[in-house]
Amino acid sequence: MPNVAWCQASSGEDAARSLPVVLDREKYDALFQYPPLRRRAAKLFLAIALFFVLLIALDHRFGEKMHLHPGKSLDLSHLEEYDLSPTFSYSQRIVKTVHDVNERKTLTFVNESLFASPPIQIWRGNLSTNVPVTMLPPLPLSIPSDHRSGTLRVPKKYDSAMFSFGVATSWERLADSIPQFSHWLGRSQAQLHALVPPDGEEKRAGVETAIRELEMNITITPSDLRFSLAYFSLVKHLYERRTQDTKWLVLIDDDTFIPSLTALAGHLSTNYDASTRKVVSALTDNFNQVHSWGLIPYGGGGIFVSVPLAAQISQPQVFDQCLQSGGGQGDGVLMECLMNWSEARPTYDPALNQMDIKGNPDGLFESGRRMLTTHHWKSWFHVDMHAVSRIWKACGEEGILMRFRFNDGIVLSNGYSIVEYGTTAEDLDFHAVELTWDGSKGEFLHRLGPIREAVPKDKKKTYRMRNTTVLEGGSVRQTYIHEAPIDDERPEERGEDSVLELVWLEHSV
Ligand SMILES: *[C@@H]1O[C@H](CO)[C@@H](O)[C@H](O)[C@H]1NC(C)=O
Ligand SMILES: *[C@@H]1O[C@H](CO)[C@@H](O)[C@H](O)[C@H]1NC(C)=O
Ligand SMILES: *[C@@H]1O[C@H](CO)[C@@H](O)[C@H](O)[C@H]1NC(C)=O
Ligand SMILES: *[C@@H]1O[C@H](CO)[C@@H](O)[C@H](O)[C@H]1NC(C)=O
Ligand SMILES: *[C@@H]1O[C@H](CO)[C@@H](O)[C@H](O)[C@H]1NC(C)=O
Repeated sequence: MPNVAWCQASSGEDAARSLPVVLDREKYDALFQYPPLRRRAAKLFLAIALFFVLLIALDHRFGEKMHLHPGKSLDLSHLEEYDLSPTFSYSQRIVKTVHDVNERKTLTFVNESLFASPPIQIWRGNLSTNVPVTMLPPLPLSIPSDHRSGTLRVPKKYDSAMFSFGVATSWERLADSIPQFSHWLGRSQAQLHALVPPDGEEKRAGVETAIRELEMNITITPSDLRFSLAYFSLVKHLYERRTQDTKWLVLIDDDTFIPSLTALAGHLSTNYDASTRKVVSALTDNFNQVHSWGLIPYGGGGIFVSVPLAAQISQPQVFDQCLQSGGGQGDGVLMECLMNWSEARPTYDPALNQMDIKGNPDGLFESGRRMLTTHHWKSWFHVDMHAVSRIWKACGEEGILMRFRFNDGIVLSNGYSIVEYGTTAEDLDFHAVELTWDGSKGEFLHRLGPIREAVPKDKKKTYRMRNTTVLEGGSVRQTYIHEAPIDDERPEERGEDSVLELVWLEHSV
């Protein structure tokens, strides 16, 4: 009997649930009118019989495919855009989302290999011919989703209309941010209000067309206030424009990214009471920033102000006084105003991320932790959050940056990277965040700990996600590439690049 583990859910304890053996009580009662004891025995017998029939059927259906099957020919011409080495190694795997009603985990162990070994070698000149590729059978991965809603986007239970976002920016930066806003704001019930300086008005028509096309509810209002005060004034601006559904007024930066508005809405609804005076925010991950700016709500990760607190701040005697502040940063002005006029203080939420880190951010994005917001991804470091998140179209939003460890020492951080650790994996504490960026442990422990030292480069091989493409028919392809290091002294002796691709089958609810 070949190993059928792959047709079950990926994590051991979920395995039983995904087997399509459904014993519907009423149906069986109607069919078999036995006395209770015999009925139970009959049911047990039936369940066992069904299980074996299923195993035999699966074996028959997939038994052959469970072994490697060379000879599948693929057109890989899309790889031409990557400037790969003249020959490179290549592996591909098809992935299928399995719905999971459980909570999202930071690490899911999958007791099988992710790719067939060894990978095939491909000559760059041959990409557009059909390349024969050896593949393992499709891989089911369990990803939490809300079955009942019928949609992966915004379950009715947590209506995104609870959010009214506010951003103070320039016309130029606003125009740049439209595509990334569309990931989370597009087709949602949330609204966004932008305050921009009056100059640049000629950009309005173009920006508003893009906003309409991407189905976003964004209102742009010119403001003469300097940046920090415009930012602070958003509290009143949003308060006055709230609807009866608005629960949270959310101050964000133009580079605040929200991987899943659904997850954010669910998280806020279950953890905080929006009917009280409440402010929820990120705390900076870098303690040096606390020394410089103090214990303030750090705006890059998003500041969530409840309507009752906004009402308090928006009273003329409070608001006008606070607007006199000489403070440097917008989030600082808000804190000063809270300290002088309210008893409300920030609740620091570990899922909101200020991301005051420089250098290589791998450790954070490979932590498997849920990131409800991200920041600084196009300035302090560079991660194309929009491309990272595109995988939601195949696996749902909770699957973004979910982490899976395979039994061949490979870890997938979905949308960000695939890392081969080999046997090194056994010695690593995957619960701790790997310190890959600049600075020392002590600066980040207060917010990100436990933290572990970086794994030396020769003990892991990192393939970074280079692009995620929605294919015709709705599947989504992630291309992960490891570029061979170039020896500066002998640049002509370039090593071989390696490419891994995951093709996620179209999602069906
Ligand atoms: C993985 O599967 C193998 C073979 O089916 C089994 O022996 C092993 O105990 C499993 N390992 C884990 C951690 O579940
Ligand atoms: C390129 O493709 C041709 C035709 O399929 C094949 O004969 C040849 O061996 C390939 N070259 C390399 C270097 O793989
Ligand atoms: C934007 O949201 C507001 C408040 O819910 C609503 O009144 C308005 O009609 C919406 N605009 C568009 C274009 O959907
Ligand atoms: C807060 O109070 C201090 C001291 O009374 C004052 O200097 C400052 O301007 C006030 N700031 C705000 C924003 O109200
Ligand atoms: C990523 O893929 C998309 C769609 O295939 C394409 O339009 C885009 O140019 C690619 N981006 C990069 C950076 O290669």
